[in-house]
Amino acid sequence: MPVLLPTLLLAFWLFLPAYAANPLAVVWGGGTPMDFGREWPDGRRVLGDGKTWRGFFGGGLSAMVVGALQWPSSALWAESLTLGALGTWLGPVAALAFGALLGDVLGSFVKRRLGMEKGRRAPVLDQYDFVLGAFLLTAVLFPGWVAANYVRGEALWGLVLILVLTPLLHRAVNIVGYRMGRKEVPW
Ligand code: CTP
Ligand code: MG
Repeated sequence: MPVLLPTLLLAFWLFLPAYAANPLAVVWGGGTPMDFGREWPDGRRVLGDGKTWRGFFGGGLSAMVVGALQWPSSALWAESLTLGALGTWLGPVAALAFGALLGDVLGSFVKRRLGMEKGRRAPVLDQYDFVLGAFLLTAVLFPGWVAANYVRGEALWGLVLILVLTPLLHRAVNIVGYRMGRKEVPW
């Protein structure tokens, strides 16, 4: 299977903006919470203090910078060095970055509704909320891109590998964040 390895590596490479968004949100985080401190009718916070506007936009925009730095690797680069080509490249990048953060926000919303305090460990939810958010938003906005890179033919194995390895990557990154003192808990 000589072409499978590049296909698998490409799956991770293209998903980098989604992987980068949440750690970058941790770096940028702080300030006004996205729910403005408001509570849901169940008496618990809508999202909690762990989701802030600065984290959301700081994380999303800096993940887009990561994606922009990947542009030279794209086939589009070889074809044309135009702003339009960069714009085409950045569409899915933005969807992956902000989709990951929206998934993370939705994850916190679900955790609060289940009565879990901020930072409480939620297996599966913590590890897959951002993956789901990234793929869903990108599939809605750029279905052709997702089909070509993660669904059609061999590309599907890339998607499978991402789903299998993401919990491990997630854990590793959060342990680093915890040791650096940027996260209160190592998950
Ligand atoms: N963060 C942020 N804004 C976001 C996402 C993350 O400010 N949109 C910052 C917060 O400082 C947050 C930290 O990154 O505490 C870690 O993020 P995460 O693990 O997603 O939040 P938790 O604090 O664990 O809260 P939750 O239980 O809601 O997941
Ligand atoms: Mg968390």
